[in-house]
Amino acid sequence: MTDTTDTHSDPAAEAVAASIPERCPVSDLATDYDMFDPEYLKDPFSAWAELRDTCPIAHTERYGGSWLPTKYDDLQAMAKMVPVLSSKSPLVIDMPQELAKEDGSGYNAAAPISADPPEQNWTRRALLPHFTPKTIAPQTEYTQQLCHNLIDGFIDKGGCDAAVDYAQQIPPRIIAHKLGVDAGMVDDFIEWVRGVLELGLQQPELRAKYRDIIRSFFAAEVADRRANPKDDLITALCQTEVDGEFLPDEVVIGMCNLQLVAGIDTTWSSIGSALWHFAGHDDDRRRMVDADDDLWGTAIEELLRFYAPVTMARNAAEDVEYGGVEFKMGDKILMNFPGANHDPDHFEDAHEVQLDRQRNRHVAFGIGIHRCAGSNLARMEMDVALRTWFERIPEFTLTDPDAVTWAGGQVRGPRILPVTFG
Ligand code: HEM
Repeated sequence: MTDTTDTHSDPAAEAVAASIPERCPVSDLATDYDMFDPEYLKDPFSAWAELRDTCPIAHTERYGGSWLPTKYDDLQAMAKMVPVLSSKSPLVIDMPQELAKEDGSGYNAAAPISADPPEQNWTRRALLPHFTPKTIAPQTEYTQQLCHNLIDGFIDKGGCDAAVDYAQQIPPRIIAHKLGVDAGMVDDFIEWVRGVLELGLQQPELRAKYRDIIRSFFAAEVADRRANPKDDLITALCQTEVDGEFLPDEVVIGMCNLQLVAGIDTTWSSIGSALWHFAGHDDDRRRMVDADDDLWGTAIEELLRFYAPVTMARNAAEDVEYGGVEFKMGDKILMNFPGANHDPDHFEDAHEVQLDRQRNRHVAFGIGIHRCAGSNLARMEMDVALRTWFERIPEFTLTDPDAVTWAGGQVRGPRILPVTFG
């Protein structure tokens, strides 16, 4: 955790930024968008609005090339183009061939998210029972206690980094608790997940390094559970049978990898974006101080809509045409769920956060067969994290709006977020 008396910095991100060649300015959004441009990360909304009007499925040659749909209906249709738009490589930048090694098992490294049917179906079915509202409920008390403990650590200082000291600290502990791995390794988990999903996106060697670390870690945990079963999710997955056979080790390792990677960065980004919103929008913050359950319910959905963190990707498995665009085999298509959530054809006053929005069919958790398996857990974490914060710290504001930094590409959310209380 940071010492809140220090100036806020993010040395890991700064080191990566320094090693990346300076980017050329964007010449034309429709043909040259840049998903890592700091200006785009701060305000992608205006770029999507412009593209929806001028070129709803944009293209760029940057980062190996990709397509960016911006309309809700297009995202809906594309999510259903399975397996022509394949999920086998769902990150927004592909690994170079020489680093994208197979483990030889023939199984997928992070199923179901990186699998197409039929493998996607049975791996998803094996995971879903562990994420129902009923199985999530016992985690609520642990999460409340955790949030109080975190706040106890900084409340007397009069301020904190709401991303680093709070939002970022919650999901890794919840996932560790659920999987049954050492919650004392939270700093490692954060470093590993950022290495794969954020800092390593533009640095393939870094990404491969952390991918291998995570895999080796879970290989050892799975071997341990086979020998010494415990009352935890890794053991439950080891004991899951599909068609009369226990799940192979490689599948369990891939699922654990996925839960760590999918469950951490995403949820901390949502909690962080919500706190950023309230710290900068006094009317909305004041409104939530005495909010009832109904308002909390709609507010969380609206914050998920507006600040949807996750962009996934597909690759065209063959040449295919959609919406007047010819995708060539291998082309990368960004599943811009955040952009779809801002489409004015589907959301009245889409550009406004309306905490009591009633009709809100947002797609922050995706669409179709890959729709987020952890959405019940994510919603519980957001609910507890935000309500506990408001209970303890109802008055807070951005210490320095210019000090806030945003990560993006795959998962958008604040990474430095200094706030002052009272
Ligand atoms: C606010 C937090 C979260 C957001 C916005 C989010 C978003 C998403 C999205 C957009 C997808 C669809 C992927 C695709 O279409 O390729 C997805 C899939 C998935 N998410 Fe989440 N997620 C969140 C939290 C979590 C958590 C806490 C977990 C728990 C471990 C989780 C586990 C998964 C899994 C396992 C899948 C893959 C489902 C499949 O492919 O069948 N997510 N998530």
